[in-house]
Amino acid sequence: MTDLADDLSLLRDLERRLLVYKFAIEELMTKLRILSEEFDSVHRHDPIEHITNRVKKPEGILDKLRRKGLPLDVDSIGEVLDDIAGVRVICPFVSDVYRVSAMLARQHDVEILRTKDYIATPKPNGYRSLHLIVRIPVFLSDRVEHVKVEVQLRTIAMDFWATLEHKLFYKYDDSPPADFVDELMSSAMIAAQLDERMESLHRRIHQDDH
Ligand code: GTP
Ligand code: MG
Repeated sequence: MTDLADDLSLLRDLERRLLVYKFAIEELMTKLRILSEEFDSVHRHDPIEHITNRVKKPEGILDKLRRKGLPLDVDSIGEVLDDIAGVRVICPFVSDVYRVSAMLARQHDVEILRTKDYIATPKPNGYRSLHLIVRIPVFLSDRVEHVKVEVQLRTIAMDFWATLEHKLFYKYDDSPPADFVDELMSSAMIAAQLDERMESLHRRIHQDDH
């Protein structure tokens, strides 16, 4: 077979493998929507502002495998990559981030494989979010697959910073100039202070509820 035919057949196999990640996202979206609506009805506060999701594109997966020097083996991609399926949960307040994460962790069919708390310990550039690698069962016609999903939970302020940092940073191939780095870091601190101030208002208003 030619290289091109090899590549095309690899892409086709990969696309077939990715279907189960779409299903895992759908399962998780339903869980999150239920938590959002039910918590709101009981506590008169919706802990989720909005949710986005994506399955990594085949080209993106192949790029990442090549970049990390990992084998281009379609059957083992789920073992080597944690972020093929991604769900981003945007919450109003920091307490909601931990609340939603705890509610997910309590569900018997949700396994938490790994947690990275970049809120307690922000990244050096100022990035804050709570990352979970979860694994959930997807029931197919002839088997059950346990599928990994990367869940990023963050406040609106954290999302504002991360979205704009991503846009700005993409202009730079290497690291951005030092004053740029400082400015980003101090913007992240302002976002964190905003979160604290809003959280304390929220606490005052909801102190009788929960
Ligand atoms: P990757 O190899 O990029 O997946 O990193 P990792 O395996 O160490 O995972 P980590 O949990 O640190 O980051 C995973 C994802 O979080 C990234 O793909 C981004 O979506 C997001 N993220 C992490 N760091 C930053 C950051 O500095 N800025 C922004 N905007 N997003 C970030
Ligand atoms: Mg990643």
